[in-house]
Amino acid sequence: MQTVGKLMKVFVTRRIPQEGMKILSAAGVCEVSLWDSDEPVQRAELLKGVQGAHGLLCLLSDKIDAEVLDAAGPNLKVISTLSVGFDHLALDEIKKRGIRVGYTPDVLTDATAELTVALLLAAARRLPEGVEEVKNGGWSSWKPLWLCGYGLSGSTVGVIGLGRIGMAIARRLMPFGVNRLLYSGRTAKAYAAEVKGEFVPLDTLLSESDFIVVSCSLTPETLGLCDKAFFSKMKNTAVFVNSSRGTVVNQEDLYEALSSGQIAAAGLDVTTPEPLPTDHRLLTLKNCVVLPHIGSATYSTRGIMGALSAQNLLGGLQGTDMPSELTF
Ligand code: NDP
Ligand code: DGY
Repeated sequence: MQTVGKLMKVFVTRRIPQEGMKILSAAGVCEVSLWDSDEPVQRAELLKGVQGAHGLLCLLSDKIDAEVLDAAGPNLKVISTLSVGFDHLALDEIKKRGIRVGYTPDVLTDATAELTVALLLAAARRLPEGVEEVKNGGWSSWKPLWLCGYGLSGSTVGVIGLGRIGMAIARRLMPFGVNRLLYSGRTAKAYAAEVKGEFVPLDTLLSESDFIVVSCSLTPETLGLCDKAFFSKMKNTAVFVNSSRGTVVNQEDLYEALSSGQIAAAGLDVTTPEPLPTDHRLLTLKNCVVLPHIGSATYSTRGIMGALSAQNLLGGLQGTDMPSELTF
C-alpha cells in the first residue's frame, strides 16, 4: 500500500487515473492510502484499508455494505464511486449512517453511448465473425449469401431505460435511418420528443423492435428482467444489446434464446460474473459478442471520471458542495 500526504484519512480501492490522484494530493487535506494495483482489492484488505477512514473512493467492483461501513467506523463522511452506477452501494445502510455519496453521471454518457452503438453494429453486422474468417482463411471469395446480418435503416429500435445514456444512444442511432424509436421505463420522458420516442409497454417494445438496447439502471425491478419470457416475445430476427449491468439478464435464458434461434444475435458489454469465465457457454456462440465492460473506457472520459470522483470526495470531506452528489 502506498501513502501520499497527511490529515484526514482516505482509502482509494484501486489505481485511478492520475487526474484524480493529482487533485487529492494538491488539496492537502487528506492522507491517501491507495490499493496500488489495477486488480480489485481483496475483501480482507478492503476491510482493513477503510478502518478509521473519513473518505472512501471506490469502484463498481467493490461491494460497499454494512460490513465495510462498520469496519470503517464513525469517521466515514463520504463515499465517492468512480462510476455512474451505484448498485454496488448499500444505500439504506449508508443513509442510516449519514454518509454522503458522490458518483460520476453525465461525463461518461457519450463514451458509453458510442460503445453501445459500436457493440450493436458489431453484433448485427457480425464483425467479430468476419474478422475471424479473414484470419482463419474462411474468406474464399465475395459470396452473396455469406455473413449477412441486420441493418438499422428502416428498423424499429427499442430502448429499455431512456435515461442519460439511453437517450444518447437513441440520438446516435436515429441518423442511421431508424424508422421508429420505442422506449420503456417507469415514466414517459418529455425529452424523448427529440428522437420521436414512443413510450410503450415493455411487451410492445419486445414484439415490435428489431434492435433492443438495455440501458437502464440495476434495481430490484430490473434484476433478471431479460429472461426466458422476455426473449420469447422478441422477433427471431432481433438483436439484443446490454450495456447496463450483467444481472439485468438471465444468461442461461439468453444462451437458450441465441442457440435455438429465438433471437438473432446479442451484444453484451456487461456480464455475470465479471470477468465472464473463459469457458462460459455464451462464448461458444458466434452470434454473441461479449466485451469486457468498456463502455466508458476512453482516455479522456476515464480522466474526467477520476477528477470528478476526487472532487466529490473532497467536497464530502470538507462538508462543502460536491459536483455530483447522489440524492437518495
Ligand atoms: P440514468 O439514471 O440517467 O438512467 C437510468 C434509466 O433506467 C432511467 O431512464 C430509468 O427510467 C431506467 N429504469 C429504471 N428502472 C427501470 C425499469 N424498471 N424499467 C426500465 N427502465 C428503468 O442513468 P445513466 O443513463 O447515466 O446510466 C444507466 C446505467 O448504465 C447505469 O446505472 C449503469 O448501470 C450503466 N452504465 C454502464 C456502463 C458501461 O460501461 N457499460 C457505463 C455507464 C453506465 P425512469 O426514469 O423511467 O425510471
Ligand atoms: C458505470 O460508471 O457505472 C460504468 O459501469 C463504468 O463506467
